[in-house]
Amino acid sequence: MQLYEELLEIEERLIPTGLHVLGRPSLDSEKTDLLKMVASFDRPEFGARSLPDVVAESMGLSRQDAKEDIGRIVTSAVRTLIEHGTDSASEFLVRKAGVNGEAVGGMLDLLSRISTSLKTNSELDAVMRALRGEFIEPGPGADIVQNPAILPTGRNTHAINPYGVPSDVAFARAEAVASSLLARYVSEHGRHPQAVGLVLWGLDNIKTQGEGVAQALWLLGVRPVRDGLNRTTDVSAIPLAELNRPRVDVVMTISGIFRDLFSPTVQLLDKAVRLVASLDEPVEMNFVRKHVLEQMQNDECRLDEAATRVFSNAPGNYGTNVNFMVMDSQWDNEETLGDLFVTRKCFAYGRDSQGRSIEGQEARRAMDKALSRVEATYQNIDTFEIGLTDVDHYFEYLGGISKAVEKRAKARPAIFLSDSLSADTKIRSLEETVRLETRAKTLNPKWYEGMLKHGFRGVAEIENHVSNTFGWSATADAVDDWIYSEVANTFVLDDEMLERLRNLNPHSAHSLVRRLLEANGRGYWDTEQTSLDKLREISRSLEDQLEGVGQ
Ligand code: BEZ
Ligand code: MG
Repeated sequence: MQLYEELLEIEERLIPTGLHVLGRPSLDSEKTDLLKMVASFDRPEFGARSLPDVVAESMGLSRQDAKEDIGRIVTSAVRTLIEHGTDSASEFLVRKAGVNGEAVGGMLDLLSRISTSLKTNSELDAVMRALRGEFIEPGPGADIVQNPAILPTGRNTHAINPYGVPSDVAFARAEAVASSLLARYVSEHGRHPQAVGLVLWGLDNIKTQGEGVAQALWLLGVRPVRDGLNRTTDVSAIPLAELNRPRVDVVMTISGIFRDLFSPTVQLLDKAVRLVASLDEPVEMNFVRKHVLEQMQNDECRLDEAATRVFSNAPGNYGTNVNFMVMDSQWDNEETLGDLFVTRKCFAYGRDSQGRSIEGQEARRAMDKALSRVEATYQNIDTFEIGLTDVDHYFEYLGGISKAVEKRAKARPAIFLSDSLSADTKIRSLEETVRLETRAKTLNPKWYEGMLKHGFRGVAEIENHVSNTFGWSATADAVDDWIYSEVANTFVLDDEMLERLRNLNPHSAHSLVRRLLEANGRGYWDTEQTSLDKLREISRSLEDQLEGVGQ
């Protein structure tokens, strides 16, 4: 059963197939998976119920046990809707699953609206208008599954009111995620983690209306409090009797974008830590207080240093540079990567005990100390569109902080992720997520053939995925040998595929082979000598080809 469920998880994972081409509306054939995903959630705000739920109910099936049968019916209904409209889809569901037409009406209308707006595309027009300095209609920022109101595309993405963060929905969802995260840690370690390192990004918190922020608040055991103007400007402690577990210390590393967009939220997070540190509670139930008191006593430092937990770049700076260092292969040992993360991110934000703003004061000692207690690191993935291996930012941040912890705590933290997209709140280890991403994307013919349709750029995307996967070896040793072996088998040691790649983009093909050799050279990939010899030979022949191109 476990194997079966894992296979289903890979099969059902929504992946982007191909790149978005500016100005090109979605084809009907590309819409099915997306609409199916939208259809799987209840949408009370649109008077729409989850289609799989309604189908399961009216057929007397369990959504879990009859996943595949239900999935087939929903797929057919969505295809019918795309091809023939809502009436036909409704008739199909009534006939095939015996549903009440009214019970699915709300959802089918929603899907039909989304399907129609995906045909409208004014992106190129909007770009031209922007270049002429003309007005562009604003629209919310999210992905289609989270908020269908982002359609039509080609509008000017606006952020959210930071004083509205976290929203009530985000706070409710975050409770389940924080509980699952702690439960998973407890199941593996037999106790709660004393401190968790979190990565908070700006765009993600716009899209989820602050789920990441809310997760931090839950770990601390506080809830947001709104003032008379309905602005979230304060927090209150959830009583321990209600929380029923210790308050966990959190070390927050926020992106430069988060710092810029969510200034009131930065203050809120810092305030939450200080509030928790000040609570008169037993230290074994309040790890923030425990750590702050210990540090003030042992290091003879002030409360302000001991209670610093919100870190970001120096004002005006962005990013960790860990990604650039890895991509350029310019590093000797992994420790350097974690140290670079701290060098870039060791600037404190919040207010001191006199209420004076600390805007990016360098606080390296405080950050080293805070990281030295971290036992788990975590990041929330906010969208199916961009995951662990699609961009280099996940490993620069979550990988970077984890490597920094490993040196300072003298132990590798447990590294976790979850996606706020799935209806359940499944926590996965980094290794599990890398495997899932690799199977669902990099090694999935549906994914790479979609990329290869884009020719030169598609090969570059495949190479990026391999390099980003490599980033998880460099920062967290989280990549199994089989992953590199299968990448080599699929893209390089298969003559036909290699031929395609080198014709479309010999530069990226060469980088991909070099990256595999680097993975072996740095001890991340153990494989047979014959494969390595073959890779070296291919690398040389690609170099010859590239030199020929250059002449
Ligand atoms: C952010 O939204 O904060 C972010 C975006 C891209 C890379 C890193 C962070
Ligand atoms: Mg290994």
